[in-house]
Amino acid sequence: MHRLRVAFLFGGRSEEHDVSVKSAMEVAAALDSAKVEPVFVGITKAGAWKLCDGPSPTWEAGNCRPAVLSPDAETRGLLVEDGGAWRAIRLDAVFPVLHGRGGEDGAIQGLLELASIPYVGCDIQGSALAMDKSLAYIVAGHAGIATPAFVVLNGAAAPPRDLACPVFVKPARSGSSFGVTKVERPDQLDAAIAEARRYDAKILIEQAVPGIEVGCAVMGNGADLNVGEVDQITLSHGIFRIHQEARPEQGSENAVITVPAELPDAKRGEIRAVAKSIYVALGCRGLARVDMFLEPGGRIVLNEVNTLPGFTSYSRYPRMMEAAGIGLSELVDRLIALAVGR
Ligand SMILES: Nc1ncnc2c1ncn2[C@@H]1O[C@H](COP(=O)(O)OP(=O)(O)O)[C@@H](O)[C@H]1O
Ligand SMILES: [Mg+2]
Repeated sequence: MHRLRVAFLFGGRSEEHDVSVKSAMEVAAALDSAKVEPVFVGITKAGAWKLCDGPSPTWEAGNCRPAVLSPDAETRGLLVEDGGAWRAIRLDAVFPVLHGRGGEDGAIQGLLELASIPYVGCDIQGSALAMDKSLAYIVAGHAGIATPAFVVLNGAAAPPRDLACPVFVKPARSGSSFGVTKVERPDQLDAAIAEARRYDAKILIEQAVPGIEVGCAVMGNGADLNVGEVDQITLSHGIFRIHQEARPEQGSENAVITVPAELPDAKRGEIRAVAKSIYVALGCRGLARVDMFLEPGGRIVLNEVNTLPGFTSYSRYPRMMEAAGIGLSELVDRLIALAVGR
């Protein structure tokens, strides 16, 4: 079997740039070089694409050259600047290790569809649906999944007057808890809305769901799905915001993540089944991490779906798969195999 030439895209223009670099470092370290010939492309915060030596916090200071992904389906790869000319590098697949806007919302997936290059993860529609929390709730709700009660504020619209606190205010399309605020009293609402609007013109105000947060890693295409172990987040206070903490590698200030979740087998099985239903309802492919709430009464409620979840050393998706016996190298290998249809 010939080695697959796979481009790993990382960085990007979203607020999750730094998280993406960390994710890509873990993925790169787990690669099996007997099977994969990696090509690393970093995207700067300003949006410049560069072929580089690999992901690291200082990748831009290394050996870099301009590179672009051609939408031309005959090129099927990258155009790299080489001595004033553009040289084409054919690709067998692309792994967009990108989080948030531009990476997880269907944009890069659209470019890859035009380029006719297989890629890891959800297609345009699945990505775009999962990225917008309100659309994900509508589609999942239609499939019979419980979701938080919510209202959408578009543009400069004013919030409804009759909100029962506590509520969560959040950008419709962001991640890593950027712009998310828990509002306990009505007088905190305006500041929370202003904070969320820093990230998106479309925002959600949703009812706080009591209970604990649980997650499930899902991998696969069509009906052939693999699920990881269920995890559980126990918060001492506040909200889950590990990616904005100073030293997440050493553990979180307010959250303990337990894998497998300390729940009866039957409940973990039910959470896995709900996660699969949500994955199918949103039309996911490749992989996704499905985050849910488990209410004290046992009801499972959708929180959000991440179609390119974190792969950092402290990230939940790889840990849930590891707990189910799929280590990171095998995981990366299988995700690429799913993309190329092997
Ligand atoms: N409706 C809700 N009820 C309870 N907690 C919530 C709710 N919405 C968000 N949170 C808290 O805020 C965190 C971040 O919100 P989330 O919707 O997951 O956005 P992000 O995409 O930034 O992760 C969640 O992990 C959870 O701790
Ligand atoms: Mg979340």
